[in-house]
Amino acid sequence: MGVVCTNINAIMSPHFLKTGKEISLQILYQMPQMNHSIGIGQCRRNEYSAAILIVFNIFQFSHSHFSFQSPESYLTIESQNRCEILTEFGLLTQSKLTNKKGNNVALPLIDSNNLIEKLMDRKKTNPHQNQYLSMYSSWLGGITTEAPLMVLPLDDHMVHRGDGVFEAMIVRNGWAFLLKEHLKRLAVSASKIGISCPWSETELQEIISETYRITRQSDCFVRIFLSRGPGTFSVNPYDSIGPQLHVICTRYSPYPADKYLSGVTLGRSAIPAKEPWFAQIKSCNYLHNVLMKKESIDQGFDFMVAFDSQGHLTESATENIVILDNKRRLIRPELDFILKGTTMMRMLELARQVLQKRNQIGEPTDFGYTQVLQGSLREVDITSAHEVFLIGTTLNVLPVTRFQKKKIGDGMPGPVGKFLGRLLEEDILRGESSIML
Ligand SMILES: Cc1ncc(COP(=O)(O)O)c(C=O)c1O
Repeated sequence: MGVVCTNINAIMSPHFLKTGKEISLQILYQMPQMNHSIGIGQCRRNEYSAAILIVFNIFQFSHSHFSFQSPESYLTIESQNRCEILTEFGLLTQSKLTNKKGNNVALPLIDSNNLIEKLMDRKKTNPHQNQYLSMYSSWLGGITTEAPLMVLPLDDHMVHRGDGVFEAMIVRNGWAFLLKEHLKRLAVSASKIGISCPWSETELQEIISETYRITRQSDCFVRIFLSRGPGTFSVNPYDSIGPQLHVICTRYSPYPADKYLSGVTLGRSAIPAKEPWFAQIKSCNYLHNVLMKKESIDQGFDFMVAFDSQGHLTESATENIVILDNKRRLIRPELDFILKGTTMMRMLELARQVLQKRNQIGEPTDFGYTQVLQGSLREVDITSAHEVFLIGTTLNVLPVTRFQKKKIGDGMPGPVGKFLGRLLEEDILRGESSIML
């Protein structure tokens, strides 16, 4: 064993080989410089404990963070299920795969020699990867256009704890719509959870621009992820070695056009609304939102809306809600309970601007709404509304025509929604609120 332990960079893997009634443990010792493994130890079933001792001995030298300190402590694990112990310590993948004879088959060892091939192979099983155009990764220090390589380290807190913040925006004709607003919200979200962004706004813009330009598309979605970064698998954010940035461009696919003509259905969510403090942060902890989407599909609604414990209307899974009430006032919910949607805020600003212009020249307003307000809305405000809209980056202004299967207004998309949708679309294409990438 002394020879084995001298090279602490060596990779070792125990393999259980089952032949008939005999089970033997083979320890494979792999030198990083060599492309093959050398078997260094083998024992039969009744020699299990000795084999486990060997494995732990080797690992103690190669992985200093292993907590087993003395051979005596290894002996105490003899009576437990050894396979389980090995699995728990990552020394063995507990394979459920069996060969034709019903014997367990060891899972293949993945290393730097076959990783790329394995990743590229995933493209066959994940058709969504065809939508992924490019990704910048601070972790890898560059941009890739190969979807299977768009991966993250599992020990990044964003992956195993949702500890990160993100933004999603659209690029149309090369214009990044509301880019400044998205970056501002990213900064606010990050600062609320104590992630300090090492990239300046100019640097972020440059990275986004380069990641987009390599796609050679005029339209696409851009998502920006700022994570706490890799660390241990613990919950402690201070274990992280530093924030990481990932920017991903995916194909632009607008929401189906016929839904704007028919309107969509909305249901009442049973998922508790986010606490106000969390609702205002666009963190990667989106379990609540995911469950709302799942709920809508399971129950046959297009979207769901959540109400808080006091009955206040909040928002949909990834969309804001605005109503045109029976006094023809455009009203959005108070910002304390929701994510401050960039699209909703811009759309209401445009709505207010056109109203003001008409008022200034003393002409009557024939837009179908008379005021733009915020208010504390409840379920009755939806059922009694003239029109209801869902608003967000991926939707623009989408009319809601049914709530809990009952008609809103006359059950058809109304003129105000169409007008607001046009205002927003023109704004996007004019590029007034956008940055050219
Ligand atoms: C919870 C939630 N509310 C509202 C929105 C709409 O925000 P925006 O218009 O900035 O896309 C989103 C968008 O991602 C969201 O996730």
